[in-house]
Amino acid sequence: MRPFEAGLRVVTLLTTDAVSSTPQQLRLGDHRSDELRRERDGLVAAEVAAFRGEVVKSTGDGTFAAFPSPSEALSCAVGIQRAMARRNLAASERIELRIGLATGEVIVEEGDIFGRAAIESTRITAYASPGQVLCCEMTQALAAPRLQYPVEPVGEVRLKGFEAPMPLYRVEWAEVFEPVVPLPAPLVREGEPFVGRPSVLATATSLWAAATTTQRPHLLVLGGEPGVGKTSLLSRLGAVVHRSGATVLYGRCTDDDIDSLRPIRQALGQFIAARSDSLLDELGPGRRELVRLAPELVGVVEPPRETGADHRAATATLLDAVAQWLGTASRVRPILFVIDDAEWLDAQTAKLLRRLAEEPGLGPLLFALAHRDRDPVGTTDELPALVASLRSSATTVETMRLTGLTPDDVAVLVGRVQPELKPMAADLHRNSSSR
Ligand SMILES: Nc1ncnc2c1ncn2[C@@H]1O[C@H](COP(=O)(O)OP(=O)(O)O)[C@@H](O)[C@H]1O
Ligand SMILES: [Mg+2]
Repeated sequence: MRPFEAGLRVVTLLTTDAVSSTPQQLRLGDHRSDELRRERDGLVAAEVAAFRGEVVKSTGDGTFAAFPSPSEALSCAVGIQRAMARRNLAASERIELRIGLATGEVIVEEGDIFGRAAIESTRITAYASPGQVLCCEMTQALAAPRLQYPVEPVGEVRLKGFEAPMPLYRVEWAEVFEPVVPLPAPLVREGEPFVGRPSVLATATSLWAAATTTQRPHLLVLGGEPGVGKTSLLSRLGAVVHRSGATVLYGRCTDDDIDSLRPIRQALGQFIAARSDSLLDELGPGRRELVRLAPELVGVVEPPRETGADHRAATATLLDAVAQWLGTASRVRPILFVIDDAEWLDAQTAKLLRRLAEEPGLGPLLFALAHRDRDPVGTTDELPALVASLRSSATTVETMRLTGLTPDDVAVLVGRVQPELKPMAADLHRNSSSR
C-alpha cells in the first residue's frame, strides 16, 4: 500500500533535521554544501525506500517521510542513524541528524500530508538532541511488539504549540562495535608486560585518530635496531585500536623476493579466515581476482578473469582488486595494517601503497611499517623510495625511530617480571653508568 494516496489514513511520520546546517553551509560555501545535502538526502531516501516508506518532501534541512508500518518507520530511523554514523567515520565533514516520529490519522492532499501527527513529528524532531531518535507514545506502543531495538521513556515533554505535556521515547540505535577479525597472532602479547614509550605511543594513537577522520591513507614508519621493541610497540597500538572495533591486519616481509605481495597475502588470509557474514561484500568488486592471492576463495567467488600471458596486465588487475578490497573493508570499519620487517618490503606491496594514496573514497586506513634501520645485511630499497614518494602526495607520513628503553622503564619492567629484583635493577644502572 502506498502510504499517501489522497484521503484520510493512519501513517507514521518521520522527520529528519540536520544539525547546525546553516553555519556549516556558510563555512563550506554553496557548492560543497549542495554536495553534502545531496549526499544526506540520498542516504535518507535509500533507507526510507528500504523500509517501504515514501519521502513526502524535503524541508531543506531534512526529509519528511511517511510509513504504513510504525515498526518499520522506527527501524528506518535506526538505519539512517547507523548509516550516517558509518559515513561520518570516514568523512571530513560530519553530518548529524535529529529524528522524530509520530503516528496518527492524517489527511493526504496533493502529495502533502496534514494533521496533528505531522506537527508532532516536526516538534519532536526539534526537541531531539543530535544523533537521537525520539518518538511519541502512539508510535512506541504500536511498534513495540516487533521492534528489535531498546526503547527508553524520556519523560513528559512540553512541545512547542501543544497544551499538554507529552510522553516521549528514545530509540537506542548505537551499534555494539565488536571487532570481527581477531587480533593477528604475531601481535598478541597477552600477559607480557609493556613499559615506557609514552611519546611514541601518543604519536601513533594520534596518527590513528587522524586516519579515522579523513579518506586518505596514513603511514607510520617505525625504525630501530633489531630487538629494540618495534613489533612490541605496534602490538600495543594494535590491541588498543582492536578493542575499539577496528580491523587489525598483519603481514611480514621476508628476504624472499620471489614471494611478492607476501604481507598482503598474509593479511588477506586473516581477513578471510574471520568468515564474517559480510565477507564477500567487503572483499569489494574485484573479489574474484583475489583468488590469485587466496586459494581458499576458490569456489566461494568466481574464478579470476583470464589475462593470457600478459604478466603486467595480470599484476595491475590484482593490485586494483587489493586496493578495492582495502577500500571497501575500511569503509565498513577502520583498518590498521601492520607491515613488519619492512626493510624487506617488496616492490609490488610498495606499488600498492602508492596506488592507495591516489585512491578516492577510502575509509580510515593506517599502515604501520616497522623496519630495521641499521642492518648489516642487505635490504630492499623500496621503503625509502616509498616514503619519499608518499611525502609528495596527500598522504600523511610520520616517521619515528625507537631507541633503547630508559633506565626507569627497565626498572619497572624488571619489577613486573621479578619484583624481588627491582632494587637491584636501579643499583645495576647506577653502578654501570658511573663509569
Ligand atoms: N616497551 C617494552 N616493554 C616490555 N618489553 C619490551 C618492550 N619492547 C620490547 N620488549 C621485549 O623485547 C623483545 C624484543 O622486542 P621486539 O618488539 O620483538 O623488537 P623488534 O620488533 O624491534 O625487533 C620482545 O620479546 C619484547 O618482549
Ligand atoms: Mg620485530
